[in-house]
Amino acid sequence: MDTMSESKEYWEGYYSSHRDPAGESPFARFVSGFLKPGDSLYELGCGNGRDSVYFAERGVNVRAFDQCDTEIAYLNGEKANDHLAFEAGDFTALGYRDQVGCIYSRFTLHSVALEEERRTLKWSFDTLKEGGMMFIEIRSVLDDLCGQGEQVGENEFVTTHYRRFVTFESFVQRVEEAGFSILYQQEAKGLAPYGDDDPVVIRIVGVRR
Ligand SMILES: C[S@@+](CC[C@H](N)C(=O)[O-])C[C@H]1O[C@@H](n2cnc3c(N)ncnc32)[C@H](O)[C@@H]1O
Repeated sequence: MDTMSESKEYWEGYYSSHRDPAGESPFARFVSGFLKPGDSLYELGCGNGRDSVYFAERGVNVRAFDQCDTEIAYLNGEKANDHLAFEAGDFTALGYRDQVGCIYSRFTLHSVALEEERRTLKWSFDTLKEGGMMFIEIRSVLDDLCGQGEQVGENEFVTTHYRRFVTFESFVQRVEEAGFSILYQQEAKGLAPYGDDDPVVIRIVGVRR
């Protein structure tokens, strides 16, 4: 089995015991400052939908994608409403979709290989309306986790699942190469604390001008 399907199995297992959204992320709170009721948003890799639910509660029309079919079926049964729909799928291969005003990716672009990241950034640019915004939070190479587990490529490691850590300057450059203008960029600790863990993460807001 390859590292990607092992990671899918890992997330299926994780969400089978964390089925319900339990509080939005700090990044979602940050992003909510850019959103207004009536905006349309795609979430790439929604997990148990905690941030999707939070955005939809603020009147944003959300379609949230994740590879975990069982979790997505559960969320569609329990949490979907007029503002919120979930869809099972690979966010690196969604094909043509209606354009939206916002695309949101928290801790998901480091779950896929570099070529898939590039494809997803390009797809996101093409799928945003003019003036639309892409919000990304992603693990940095400065994260203490970088280097742990089995190395499977440059800055790519497998522990319980696959992660590809990114360098700030080169990631910003790839976002720009996809066509985006950078509205906001930050690399810091303290943005995504989780238990005892306080990783260095990168936040980017890109705009399609
Ligand atoms: C670290 S979790 C983050 C979940 C959520 N964004 C959050 O912040 O709580 C990564 C998520 O990305 C999903 N994922 C990873 N690769 C994917 C892919 N290629 N297509 C769809 N979902 C994917 C996983 O199933 C998992 O739910």
